[in-house]
Amino acid sequence: MKIAVGSDHGGFEYKQLIIKFLQEIGQDVDDVGCYDNQSVDYPDFADKVCAKVQNGVCERGILICGTGIGMSISANRHRDIRAALCHESYTARMSREHNNANVLCLGGRVLGQEIALDVVGTWLETEFAGGRHQRRLDKLS
Ligand code: RB5
Repeated sequence: MKIAVGSDHGGFEYKQLIIKFLQEIGQDVDDVGCYDNQSVDYPDFADKVCAKVQNGVCERGILICGTGIGMSISANRHRDIRAALCHESYTARMSREHNNANVLCLGGRVLGQEIALDVVGTWLETEFAGGRHQRRLDKLS
């Protein structure tokens, strides 16, 4: 699966960790930045990841900032983007099963490294359940 990954400076270290994990499990990563710890603005990277998901270049996106909140707010302003801010694997799984989330947001200053990778792994392997959940998603557009 091709996955766009972006962060601001608050999520930079976790972006690097997550990209390494994604590559190790055979995913195709499109890293849109940022590329160092210099202070940047999270909406710029949410825009880049969401554009790749919207235009089909990438199937899914992952966004990391300090809390995950800024990225979540930014990503959900984009049409057809369903971004989920997840702090553990239960919400990661439900965001796929019930919400068909196509962007995962994480807080690099909130999660331990093992939890973050567990969230990413769960989110990637969980399928959308469809049915009544699709009817609800249809009401979002
Ligand atoms: C940057 O300091 C921080 O505000 C940002 O990473 C994020 O947490 C915003 O929601």
